[in-house]
Amino acid sequence: MNALERFDLPVSAIPRRWYNVVPDLPELPDDYLDPVTREPVGPQYLETLLPRALIAQETSLERWIAIPQEVRDAYRLWRPTPLYRALALERHLDTPARIYFKYEGSSPSGSHKLNSALAQAYYARLEGVERLVTDTGAGQWGSALAVAGARFGVDALVYMVRTSYKTKPARRQFIETYGQQVLPSPGPHTAYGRDLLAARPDHPGSEATAVSEALETVRAHPGSRLSMGAFANHVLLHQTVIGLETREQLQSIGAVPDYLVASVGCGSNLAGFAFPFLADKLAGAEMTVLAAEPAACPTLTAGEYRYDYADSGRLGPLARTYTLGHAFVPPPIHAGGLRYHGAAPLVGLVRHEGLLEARAYPQHEVFEAGTLFARLHGLLPAPETAHAIRAVIDTAHQCRERRHPATIVFCYSGHGLLDLPAYHSHHTDPMVEEEPVPHAAVR
Ligand SMILES: Cc1ncc(COP(=O)(O)O)c(C=O)c1O
Repeated sequence: MNALERFDLPVSAIPRRWYNVVPDLPELPDDYLDPVTREPVGPQYLETLLPRALIAQETSLERWIAIPQEVRDAYRLWRPTPLYRALALERHLDTPARIYFKYEGSSPSGSHKLNSALAQAYYARLEGVERLVTDTGAGQWGSALAVAGARFGVDALVYMVRTSYKTKPARRQFIETYGQQVLPSPGPHTAYGRDLLAARPDHPGSEATAVSEALETVRAHPGSRLSMGAFANHVLLHQTVIGLETREQLQSIGAVPDYLVASVGCGSNLAGFAFPFLADKLAGAEMTVLAAEPAACPTLTAGEYRYDYADSGRLGPLARTYTLGHAFVPPPIHAGGLRYHGAAPLVGLVRHEGLLEARAYPQHEVFEAGTLFARLHGLLPAPETAHAIRAVIDTAHQCRERRHPATIVFCYSGHGLLDLPAYHSHHTDPMVEEEPVPHAAVR
């Protein structure tokens, strides 16, 4: 019996345009606010931070934005990615639901993150940016930017969250192999990092501390620009190649999704996967978009929708979105890519508008789901991806109870081959559950 069924697209089906959801949403996103004046930020402010082409994409109201040919050529390294049907999981769960997944784990860096990294490195090169400075949680984004920087000839400096820097040395070595620099955050290389370490020498860091250090570095070096692995509208835009291909693959087999499921750290894989279907949902299609997040960092399920800083040092702009508070330091769970206090503003807006549901899962349930999936299908998911699988299993159980032959599609955002120590500790040590910090305590 087949464990998987595979649906491929020809290379010519790599999308030629990214899809910008903004013109299709009922409301426009709120402006970013300047951290000092609290007025909407202007292009001048943004130009000190980002390549100009990305600023234009950030605020664009065009529905379709052309993908440069050089970026499309680079996508050919692994795109279009396959869509699979998870037959073995369906049988194991004895569910009437059909479960499909879009496999982003075949990218050279191991996850969906390369979809945006290549675009960002390309524009940086075009505009003469010398170095891109960034933050990374588990190291997936840093790895992607390292590959993209090497491909387009742009240096990358990656501030890697200290706890991951220690526990995921292979990601660090991966980044260095591509000739790029990686430093722990908090660390001694910035004033902000030194302050944090002075106050708490064992500070585990978070994406929010790493963003602050990246911002401080960009401010101090005019040839450098900030690069983001999620959060910003332009990053979500680049990720829409995932959903555009998925739409085509589903159409080719006559399948219509009832559920679209993805893990959320900030929301770039969810947005890239699900936004190309949102216009259908807004036009009345019955479809549930479901975000899976860690109980230890429950941004969408327990956060508030309000203005907050994107970084813990309050150096960067404020954005309106779901947040646990910029000072929230999530417990050091293995899914380092989900340890961020805020959702991407567009993902926050979509949730605020009632278009996105969310569930939070404790770590041990997530690893059980990831391990089950690996044993059934042979594909070992990243801990972040295992959150989506956990939510899919839940949903498939509900379909079984309701005898509903639904079509569930999820985004397999990355492989877990460099996350084996996390799986090892799941198998050898029962994981201590980290309770989410009560919301009122984290502002
Ligand atoms: C494999 C994988 N999936 C998901 C995520 C979560 O990020 P996002 O919500 O931006 O997709 C990450 C973040 O690093 C990741 O590495």
